[in-house]
Amino acid sequence: MSNILIAPSILSSDFTKLAEELQAITSAGADLLHLDIMDGHYVPNLTFGFCLIEAIRKVSSLPLDAHLMVTNPSDYIDRLAALGITYCSFHPETVFHPHRLVIQIKDQGLKAGLAINPGIPVSSVSDLLSELDFVLLMSVNPGYSGQSFIPHVLDKVSQLKSEIRSRHLSVQIEVDGGINQTNAPALIRAGADILVSASYIFSAADYSQAIRNLKHV
Ligand code: DX5
Ligand code: ZN
Repeated sequence: MSNILIAPSILSSDFTKLAEELQAITSAGADLLHLDIMDGHYVPNLTFGFCLIEAIRKVSSLPLDAHLMVTNPSDYIDRLAALGITYCSFHPETVFHPHRLVIQIKDQGLKAGLAINPGIPVSSVSDLLSELDFVLLMSVNPGYSGQSFIPHVLDKVSQLKSEIRSRHLSVQIEVDGGINQTNAPALIRAGADILVSASYIFSAADYSQAIRNLKHV
């Protein structure tokens, strides 16, 4: 077993029985709850917003990890902070001033992360790296759960880990998209700290076993 944190994304859970799903995923050993917030503009898909997060907060004490796939992320920060989220990432190409937004997120007491799409080089986070708490490396193009893992992201994890180490930073690497029992060990060895998983976990008959499988190196 590794020290990896597992962040199930509720996108693949059964929304008709969300409270039971949250209970099950918590008992199964989830470390964080990943919230895929999509606005139908930055990505074609539309998921959920503040009302659902407020409802989740009432029945789950897991730390919440908000992944903003929206064109106006700065408008969401204060309300998400008030709802008690812990991690907050946004896609830097959605704003003119990513540095300003990172500071806005940290000023709210949240952990700030940049979400980097598969087609964007990892070197693009270098200038902001020392300000960040985490980088979310996307291993699918954002928009949907259930897509296939894009293999070159593994090299991006290694590259980012060596930069973090050589600069003596304590930035966490979160990887998101298409993660399963087959590709998780290599991601952990390459330096991932947090693995997001929606379809692999929620399609499993036994969530606990699925989480154990993802943690196994
Ligand atoms: C994609 C989302 C992912 C997605 C992961 O836009 O950011 O978090 O829900 O789903 P799986 O694990 O099924 O690829
Ligand atoms: Zn996500």
